[in-house]
Amino acid sequence: MAEAPTLPLSCTASSAALLQKAATLAKKLQIPCPPGPAAPPQLVYTERGLELRLQLGGPDTVGTSVLHIDFIGGRSGYRHARNCTINQPLARAVGIRPGVRPTVFDATAGMGADAFVLACLGCRVTMNERSPVVGALLADAIDRALQDPDIAPIFRDLIRLVIGDAQAALRTMSDPPDTIYIDPMYPHGGTSALNSKEMRIIRAIVGDDVDGGELLAQALLTAAQRVVVKRPKGAPLLGERPPSHQVLMKNSRFDVYLRRHL
Ligand SMILES: C[S@@+](CC[C@H](N)C(=O)[O-])C[C@H]1O[C@@H](n2cnc3c(N)ncnc32)[C@H](O)[C@@H]1O
Repeated sequence: MAEAPTLPLSCTASSAALLQKAATLAKKLQIPCPPGPAAPPQLVYTERGLELRLQLGGPDTVGTSVLHIDFIGGRSGYRHARNCTINQPLARAVGIRPGVRPTVFDATAGMGADAFVLACLGCRVTMNERSPVVGALLADAIDRALQDPDIAPIFRDLIRLVIGDAQAALRTMSDPPDTIYIDPMYPHGGTSALNSKEMRIIRAIVGDDVDGGELLAQALLTAAQRVVVKRPKGAPLLGERPPSHQVLMKNSRFDVYLRRHL
């Protein structure tokens, strides 16, 4: 398991109308739901949806940092995802080709950005996330996306969210996906663009994914066709396993393990 730091999280709402939602989530996550305003770290229901607020610390992060998942707008939203093509590195790595759309189990969904791109390209994707807090942020973002006429069909028809440990899910899977995608938390100190403030907030909640090698081992036993691991440029191979091939990018790479090479 990951070494998740135990933050004293609470759940609250920015208006009285949203307090019931906050109380329901607090009960589910077994965290306090104080009646008045609380200090970060906290989950807050606002008019734009659920957000996580915390103090990250560090020279570039004065004040409160906010994590809010948005599939409709924003940097990873629909406008970005629908412009992605089957020639981009992620698509090639998971096995998308003209006329071929593998089913994908995204073992480490995080903010769901990679899974959303794959679904926008036409793959059926299971988003799997073990952190209940990140899972709550994802579920809220999906609820909002289901209200948007352009995006709702993608979530209704192609995306499924599962909260729980991916290793356990893979061990008992009866219908293996074509591709299993693994993108564990990047090691500390990485300078990749993906080590963004958002990823630093997620790290503060979930800790380091120290069991990535075991997850890869289980994925290699389960995937019907391939396993894809995202790694920072220059990072050691996950579990010291050499891949069948690599897809290289500026700051990171995909290590691709083909079943037929195992
Ligand atoms: C780097 S983030 C993934 C980012 C994601 N690819 C995206 O596009 O937003 C890693 C996430 O994987 C989750 N995770 C790591 N190991 C997991 C496991 N064994 N089962 C389920 N989730 C896992 C962590 O909790 C964290 O939220």
